Amino acid sequence: MRLIFFSFLIAAGAWAQIKAPTDAASLQAGMKSYQFHCAFCHGKGDDGFAANLVSPNLVHAPTDSSLLNIIRNGIIGTDMPPALGMSEEEMLQVAGYVRSLGRSAPTSIAGNAAKGKAIYMGKGGCANCHMLEGAGGRMGPDLTQIGAMRSPSNLRSSIVSPSAAMVGGWTMVHVSLKNGTKVNGIRLNEDNFYISLRDGKGKIQTLAKSDATNIVRDVTKSSMPSYEKVLSTEELDDLIAYLFSLRGAM
Ligand code: HEC
Ligand code: HEC
Repeated sequence: MRLIFFSFLIAAGAWAQIKAPTDAASLQAGMKSYQFHCAFCHGKGDDGFAANLVSPNLVHAPTDSSLLNIIRNGIIGTDMPPALGMSEEEMLQVAGYVRSLGRSAPTSIAGNAAKGKAIYMGKGGCANCHMLEGAGGRMGPDLTQIGAMRSPSNLRSSIVSPSAAMVGGWTMVHVSLKNGTKVNGIRLNEDNFYISLRDGKGKIQTLAKSDATNIVRDVTKSSMPSYEKVLSTEELDDLIAYLFSLRGAM
């Protein structure tokens, strides 16, 4: 019966009126589907690799309709995939479960974002490597929207143990050339004959492999230093509060 009702709503194009269910049975079912389809990336909601879902204000999903839409279609251009093998009813139940996570959210996270910004710009030296709203370095990923992309606990791991929480695409390479010089940088591209990288000064270099005696790729080691011993517990909280507040222009 419910399914027929939902299909009717969709057929009628009445998206805006869709409400995620809040009853216990639906939430229970939603939790099961969530664990199967979503937990792999989102963890318990606030401790996954992907976006934090334990929030009353989801950036991409202000309404239940937009939440359902994201579950159905994913978010194009990001790692958030479209639903696979989920019925209409299951998607709604998951949406209901995600909303229930939001209702249980703490109103704020520890730390002071303004102080965190000062650490980012100053002591942390983060801008040397990271781009933020169009300014900064290019030796690491753009952090303009990082708060919408990652949970606070994942942000913490990225800073405390970068190599354990590594994101792909930022492999550091060390090339020893026949002429005795060494070139280090982030690998941009590589084929059988050439390797191109961005060096510490931001310059792109394309090197012929035939000119190299040795090429070392740090596949499992991040070029980002750990800040575990550099920042105090309080400074780390402040920095995470700042990063988590970065939602970009959406
Ligand atoms: C393969 C990993 C992966 C899976 C599986 C996955 N997600 Fe995501 N999800 C992401 C990532 C990464 C983002 C952040 C996208 C971005 O903005 O860059 C995201 C973002 C979201 C957002 C937007 C959060 C916001 O603040 O706007 C919602 C809602 C969401 N996911 C719900 C779900 C649900 C529900 C499921 C299961 C049906 C799911 N996701 C499955 C990776 C995943
Ligand atoms: C020497 C360059 C360098 C410095 C300095 C640096 N980072 Fe990074 N950062 C990287 C690289 C490279 C990556 C991608 C590889 C990885 O995940 O470790 C990264 C990844 C990250 C990520 C994970 C991004 C994601 O998509 O999950 C966060 C968050 C981050 N850095 C924050 C910071 C903060 C905050 C600082 C300053 C306290 C900082 N970084 C300083 C190079 C740097």
